[in-house]
Amino acid sequence: MPLNLKLEDPTLLASDAFIGGGWHQAASGGRFPVSNPATGAIVAEVADLSGEEVRQAIAAAAQALPAWRGRLAKERSAILRTWHDLIVANADDLARILAAEQGKPFGEALKEIAYGATFIEWFAEEAKRIYGDVVPTHMPGRQILTVKEPVGVVAAITPWNFPNAMITRKVAPALAAGCTVVLKPSEETPLSALALAVLAVRAGVPAGVLNVVTGTHAAAIGAQLTGSPLVRKFTFTGSTRVGKLLLAQCASTVKKTSLELGGNAPLIVFDDANLDLAIEAALASKFRNAGQTCVCSNRILVQDTIYDEFADCLVRRVAQLQVGAAHDAGVEVGPLINRQAAQRVLRLIAGAIEEGASLAVGGTLHPAGANFITPAVLLDVDMGMEISREEIFGPVATLFRFRSEEEAIAMANATEYGLAAYFFTRNLARSMRVSAALEYGMVGINEGIISTEIAPFGGIKESGLGREGSKYGIEDYLEIKYILVGPGE
Ligand code: SIN
Repeated sequence: MPLNLKLEDPTLLASDAFIGGGWHQAASGGRFPVSNPATGAIVAEVADLSGEEVRQAIAAAAQALPAWRGRLAKERSAILRTWHDLIVANADDLARILAAEQGKPFGEALKEIAYGATFIEWFAEEAKRIYGDVVPTHMPGRQILTVKEPVGVVAAITPWNFPNAMITRKVAPALAAGCTVVLKPSEETPLSALALAVLAVRAGVPAGVLNVVTGTHAAAIGAQLTGSPLVRKFTFTGSTRVGKLLLAQCASTVKKTSLELGGNAPLIVFDDANLDLAIEAALASKFRNAGQTCVCSNRILVQDTIYDEFADCLVRRVAQLQVGAAHDAGVEVGPLINRQAAQRVLRLIAGAIEEGASLAVGGTLHPAGANFITPAVLLDVDMGMEISREEIFGPVATLFRFRSEEEAIAMANATEYGLAAYFFTRNLARSMRVSAALEYGMVGINEGIISTEIAPFGGIKESGLGREGSKYGIEDYLEIKYILVGPGE
């Protein structure tokens, strides 16, 4: 079984699916390997469920719903708080599991565990603040009330780039609201999800309230989660292409949906910016998780007058980034998730060079292994090139030139995506103008990392529907019921 995965609590490494409060192998006996992207070593063999077994998990969630939604908010809150505390207490082991299946440097994995736990803490608190309204009446002798109720059974499909935090950001508000959940984690990184389920049981989450279905039969599993009339809410984080397919599938049962999809984030550096700050923020934003985040700066737009200075500094800093496996000393950039991902990034770089960009540093396979790309900077990229339209999802910074504020805004908005945008300036009036003009759900001004549990995360245009985290994040798991109370006689 697990290779080189030394855990203080080995019971956190579960590899069966979790349904109705019990651990289940696939009826077929099928299992699929989860491998370490840095080494290719098999970390575990996980139960490979069929669509029918996912249907059973949905039935378990539906059965558990009445009792869970009937619990006092305070009780749900206390269970979530205990879950949070257990995650924090087991952070090292959870980070080891995460780093082994996902590849990110151990320090970054630890940060993700802490980030993931904040969503549970936040929504444990929000559980107690789901208020309705008393609306001034329209007729004498009547009262108008609104109450908020849990949507019902929630199906969640989560990605491999944040195997912990993208789960807690969905599951915590769902459970806080009184919903039950069937979670399908990415087949690349199911172990973090199963470890969370182990701790959820210890925290007192009742049987059937959280179910984790693992498997590689994406179409059959997706069809159950999007097609079942028992599922009333569907939530997905992943690519825009897959999100559109799943959204279409949800139409037949008119499910409430929230989608966190792709991005093509611009990071604009104006010539009045603090350049040192902009360089450090660009590095943090671009190379977090080896460039595999939806909010990574995908296009760095630099004003003509400071372009060369900015490019020289960025190239120098990128050349210093330490590449390696999760536990290598000082490592800052890990592998990509698999070989196809690395090959795709190499193809994008080659395409950009063919179209006229120049490679200033990196951009080749790194000696650490077949999934590692040497962090790269491409100069003189323009909006006509394929790489400007694609979500790169790799450690490649692309530098574009602009001359005026209007041109920067037009370039930034020239995409079907609208997730995150960043810009750097010392000018307050420009800060207000540009943030208003950017067609994005999230804007960082003089900041390259903007994610936090207390602010609404989400996009507009083809980057998705709904918001996660913050006081708004629970709304996606609630329905409003309007009650008109008449005089009765
Ligand atoms: C994502 O890339 O999907 C999420 C990143 C974040 O939460 O910061």
